[in-house]
Amino acid sequence: MTGLHTIEAMRDAARRRLPRFAFDFVDGGSGAESALARNCAAFEAVRLLPRVLTGAVARDPSLELFGAKYALPFGVAPIGLANLAGSGTDLGLAQAALDAGAPYTLSTAATTSIETIARTAPGAWFQLYVGADHAIVEDLIDRAEAAGFKTLIVTVDVPAPGKRVRDLVNGFSLPLRPTPAMALDLLAHPGWALDLAANGAPRFANLEAYGGKGAGAQSLAKLMAGQSSARLDWALLADIRRRWKGALVVKGVLHPQDAARLAELGADGVVVSNHGGRQLDSAPAPIEALPAVRAAVGPRLPVLLDGGVRRGEDIARAVALGADMVLLGRPFLYAAAARGARRGGGELFAILADELDRAMTQLGASTLAELRQVEVFAPTTFNAAPARPDLRAVESRRTAP
Ligand SMILES: Cc1cc2nc3c(=O)[nH]c(=O)nc-3n(C[C@H](O)[C@H](O)[C@H](O)COP(=O)(O)O)c2cc1C
Repeated sequence: MTGLHTIEAMRDAARRRLPRFAFDFVDGGSGAESALARNCAAFEAVRLLPRVLTGAVARDPSLELFGAKYALPFGVAPIGLANLAGSGTDLGLAQAALDAGAPYTLSTAATTSIETIARTAPGAWFQLYVGADHAIVEDLIDRAEAAGFKTLIVTVDVPAPGKRVRDLVNGFSLPLRPTPAMALDLLAHPGWALDLAANGAPRFANLEAYGGKGAGAQSLAKLMAGQSSARLDWALLADIRRRWKGALVVKGVLHPQDAARLAELGADGVVVSNHGGRQLDSAPAPIEALPAVRAAVGPRLPVLLDGGVRRGEDIARAVALGADMVLLGRPFLYAAAARGARRGGGELFAILADELDRAMTQLGASTLAELRQVEVFAPTTFNAAPARPDLRAVESRRTAP
C-alpha cells in the first residue's frame, strides 16, 4: 500500500481533495466541538491490561449479529450526503463493507437509494429518520422491507438539529448556492469540482419519491430539514416496532435507563452514540457511557457503539468495555475522498482489521468473547443504574493486576 497507514493520513488527504465547505461538513461537529474532541480523547484514557506468554493464539474476530455472520466487529455508520466526498461514495463503501464481510448502513439522507444499495450490497442495514410526515416514514420502512433489508436502525438523537458552526460560517446549505468564497474554493479543488460537474450534485435519493412531480433540489432539501426526530417518542417507536418485522436497533442512546427501556420495548439492539459530536456538545463520549449501558441491559442485548473510533485498538477497547460491534462514520468518508470509496474503504477495513489483530494478539485474546474478559481501566465512565436516575461519574470495573 502506498503511504496511507492511518485515519489521520486519510483525513489529511481528504482535506486536500475536498473544497473547504465539503470537508468541514464531513469533519465538523456542533457547538464548540467539545463532544467531537472528547469522543477520540476518551478512548485514549481506556487502558487494557495485556497477558503475556499466551503462545501463538489464532485470532478470530468474527461474530454473529442480528441473524447474520460478520467477519469483523466493525462497519460503516449511516452517513447523509456521503457523495459530497465524491460521486459513488455510498455504493463504493457498501461494496467495500461487503468485500470485508462487515455491515454497511444506508442513511435515510443518503445520496443513493434504498433500492440501488439493495441490489449492490444485499445484507446492508437501513437507518431511519422519523420525520414530520408519517406517511413517508411508513413508506420508507415498507421500501426497506421490500428491498430485502433485515436490520433497521432508528436514529433518535436528532430532536433538533445540532448547531454546526463550520457550516454556518461557510454558508453551506442545500441546494448549493456558491458564494464567491465557495467559487474560489472550487477552483482550488478542480478534481472534486470536475467530478461534481460530470456526475451532478449529491441529492437525497431516498426522498425524491416524495418531493412531488418535478421536485427540485430545493424542495428535497426542505423535506430533509423536516427529517429530524422531534415528534419521536416511546409510543411512536412502539408503533415502528410493530410495523418492522426484522431487527430493530435504536441509535443515539447514552443513558442506561433509556437503553433498559428500549430492551423492554422490544428493540433488538442499541447504538451508544452522540451522533459523532454533531448534536449535544456537552454529551459524554460514547465510550464513557458504554459500561453503564451494558450493565443496564445485561449481557444478551446487542450493544453497538460509534463515535471517535480511529484505530483498531479503539475497537478492542470498545469490545472490552461491552460493545458487540463498532461503527465508524467520518473515517470512511476520509477514505472515500482520499482514495475513492471502494478502494479507500477496503484499505480502511484492512488497516483497522490489522490493528485489531495485533491488539488481540498482544492481549492474548483469540476471540471477541476473550477480548470481553480483558481487564480494563476506564477512569471516567457513568454509573446510572436503572434504579438511579442521576448520572454519577465513578470508576467502572477498576481492576488490580
Ligand atoms: C457527514 C456525516 C453525516 C452523518 N449522517 C448521519 C445520518 O444521516 N444518520 C445518522 O443516524 N447518523 C449520521 N451521522 C452520524 C454517524 O452515523 C455516526 O454516528 C458518527 O459519524 C460516528 O462518529 P465518527 O464520525 O467519529 O465515527 C453522520 C455523521 C457524519 C460525519
